[in-house]
Amino acid sequence: MALTPLFARELFDMPDEVLWLSHCKDGPLPRASLEATRRIVDTELRPWDMDWERDFLDVAAYLRQQAALFFGAHADDISLTTCTTTGLEAVAMGYPWQPGDQVLLPAGEFPSNRLPWLALAARGVSCNEVALWPGHGDDHPCTPHGGIQPEQALIDAITSHTRIVAVSWVRYQDGTRMDLARLGRACRERGVHLVVDGIQGAGTVPLSLEGVSAFATGGHKGLLGMQGQGLLWTSPVLRSLLLPIGTWLSAPEAFSQSGHRHDLGDLWSQGGRRLEAGSPSILSCAALATSLALMTGAGGAAVIHAHVAGLQRALLARLAPLPAWQAESKRLTDLLDAGRLGSILSFALPQDRCHALLRSAPRHHVHTSTREGYLRIALHGWHGGTDIERIVAWLTDAQ
Ligand SMILES: Cc1ncc(COP(=O)(O)O)c(C=O)c1O
Repeated sequence: MALTPLFARELFDMPDEVLWLSHCKDGPLPRASLEATRRIVDTELRPWDMDWERDFLDVAAYLRQQAALFFGAHADDISLTTCTTTGLEAVAMGYPWQPGDQVLLPAGEFPSNRLPWLALAARGVSCNEVALWPGHGDDHPCTPHGGIQPEQALIDAITSHTRIVAVSWVRYQDGTRMDLARLGRACRERGVHLVVDGIQGAGTVPLSLEGVSAFATGGHKGLLGMQGQGLLWTSPVLRSLLLPIGTWLSAPEAFSQSGHRHDLGDLWSQGGRRLEAGSPSILSCAALATSLALMTGAGGAAVIHAHVAGLQRALLARLAPLPAWQAESKRLTDLLDAGRLGSILSFALPQDRCHALLRSAPRHHVHTSTREGYLRIALHGWHGGTDIERIVAWLTDAQ
């Protein structure tokens, strides 16, 4: 098993002592991506030297192209958004709802994949938040284990009123990964659209869009872009149903500075641009495109995922013989074996142990985070075997 980092540390501005285990919060920007933004800033300083095609339209088009390459999608199906939320909102606000329609959500979704759907109550649309495994979502919630079937729980909850099932690909607190192919097949068979909040899987898990109708992600976590740049992929079928929110940059021929009817009778592009609201932050477009190119060059999400899974296995194996870690090591190994994890190892620990670990983290230059009682250790391509030893040293220090 290769425990050598996939990405050299020098690609980032990351001092040797820093152990960043929190790309589930914010991924580090590669130096090359910073350089790409500097070239754009120069055009902001000297707009008279700016070339509209090269320095604006081509930058946005390059991001769509790099995103398509990375996700195995068509560039035409990709819309540039500011973040995950705006992508989900384009679907939630743009869908042709009828009073009585229903949306299904897993219990405990991040607000980005909850509030836009709850807001639809004003249009007579209800939300059903579904427990994904026995005891999930209760006051004293049960942790997920290797045998859970969260897709089946959602499939069983579909009714004749359900129009959309909206799920996180990888859950932000417990780290559980949804089998999108299985859920997508079942949704398609029932005429229901599957909409995915993909941010906690994007970059570190290979994606199949088969059966998915919309996939929204921000670019600033596992995709290693800057805050404020996201991507929305939509299937042509769903996209044709959505209210187009685009304006001048969404015209069929890339842009139109007149608001008049296009000669061909179509005001909006049929592609993802029809869902783009005005000028994007071209700086963050350039950064994300460069980060995506770097990750594609390293073999893409499949290679990053295999690397991360190898590191996770190594860490869990080191913890398995330690009495204080045995149970969690076993639970997480079972989840890993069942293909239920993305890049986050979420340890369910008693509060006092969690606090002790957070207190000792600075001594080890460890940066991590907790959500809803889970201590999150998120691994990526820049981590290697040495980092696993450092994590073990930290986790066993506070015992
Ligand atoms: C599952 C999930 N969805 C959405 C977000 C945030 O989305 P946005 O890109 O809109 O800031 C987060 C941030 O932590 C998240 O964990």
